[in-house]
Amino acid sequence: MSKLWGGRFTKQTDQLVEEYTASITFDKELAEEDVRGSLAHVSMLGKQGILPAEDVETIKGGLKRVLERIRKGELEYSVSDEDIHMNIEKALIEDIGPVGGKLHTGRSRNDQVATDMHLYLRTRVVEFVGLLRSLQEALIGQAQENLDTIVPGYTHLQRAQPILFAHHLMAYVSMFGRDIERLQDSYKRIDTLPLGAGALAGTTFPIDRHFVAEQLGFGRVYENSLDAVSDRDFILEFLSHASIVMMHLSRLSEELILWSSTEFRFVELDDAFCTGSSIMPQKKNPDVPELVRGKTGRVYGNLVGLLTVLKSLPLAYNKDMQEDKEGMFDTVKTMSGALRLFAPMIATMKVNKGQMREAVNKDFSNATDIADFLVGKGLPFRQAHEVIGKTVLYCIENDKFLLDLTLEEFKGFSELFDERIYEVLQPETVVNARNVYGGTARPQVEAAIGRASQALESVAAWVEEHTQGDV
Ligand code: ARG
Repeated sequence: MSKLWGGRFTKQTDQLVEEYTASITFDKELAEEDVRGSLAHVSMLGKQGILPAEDVETIKGGLKRVLERIRKGELEYSVSDEDIHMNIEKALIEDIGPVGGKLHTGRSRNDQVATDMHLYLRTRVVEFVGLLRSLQEALIGQAQENLDTIVPGYTHLQRAQPILFAHHLMAYVSMFGRDIERLQDSYKRIDTLPLGAGALAGTTFPIDRHFVAEQLGFGRVYENSLDAVSDRDFILEFLSHASIVMMHLSRLSEELILWSSTEFRFVELDDAFCTGSSIMPQKKNPDVPELVRGKTGRVYGNLVGLLTVLKSLPLAYNKDMQEDKEGMFDTVKTMSGALRLFAPMIATMKVNKGQMREAVNKDFSNATDIADFLVGKGLPFRQAHEVIGKTVLYCIENDKFLLDLTLEEFKGFSELFDERIYEVLQPETVVNARNVYGGTARPQVEAAIGRASQALESVAAWVEEHTQGDV
């Protein structure tokens, strides 16, 4: 069979052009969505009396058989049929004869491909919300186990103030919580139907777009036919949100890599998530977090790539827009791989509480609290800061930590010190003194875990409510 659009042409397409312009090698990923969209479209053509009922039934039967063949890997795609839409249409016509050619009535590949992309991302976004939620669950699980584990908190990667390790983990739970919110918000724009826009201007057939939307479970239809076929904002949004998710994963990766180094020894990743060295037998490398950190780059690249494709494109459809797919598929694959590995890797991570405690005992991260102690005694904060600065310097020069100083030594820096300073300096006291909403004191962290666990439940309900059934 010749090309579906061959009528106007007198020459064969150049072989190289065919290969260069075809998208079937990658848009075959959209087969399920394409058939789903076609089934809804043809049902509408029947309901509107545009096609007779028996043609509609024949076409539906044919489409379902084609989908079965695709699922079994039996359909052979051909580059000369360019893309998934025409490969499926061709297979349909081969299966049911010329009546298959009626499917494309009142439709263009421009609104068809946009519909496929909306259907595809709509499913993926719900899956990603679920995956992010599982990662949060793993982090919350570790936080619950570490409500009494104190670690140095850092600024400038210098020890700053001691915090609960649970509090540190819960920071990531908040970050992934924002990622979930962003994806949930983008859902309503993805959940908008382009079909019915035709090539760009609408169609002369008396179609019913709202009926198609209902069939496909879309909440809205595009207001403007040109916008419907030209819009790729929903993909850009997804790629931006994915970039932020990967940035978060990359920051966590960096910390896991640092924490599992011999220099820190704060955590040990399970053997199942590490690899060895082919030459150095002692090594256990944190490959998973390293690769996630590395792959963040390609996800950013896919975002910048599509932004650049769309920049300056005139309305409406341009072939450039076919370039929206590979980057999106790559981002979906990269991010879902990362999230699927991260949740169990966090859940099985061993936390070296003793080593963390050792680190806290050997630092000056309680210095702010002595300053606050002196402020409590009436000394202006700036002066207290100066006094403690000198005290710390003295400790460094004499190879001591604050808790090693005698009361006489303390009093040498300020008469305001008394024996209560030893209690004030205990890491537990320091941590629990930060008893403000969102702070690191244990009751606050427990409350934060409680709120996050509740959010887990409502996110699970959202995922269930937004999960679409099969074709
Ligand atoms: N394969 C095309 C794409 O992905 C489908 C739309 C083609 N439309 C057209 N007018 N050539 O963008």
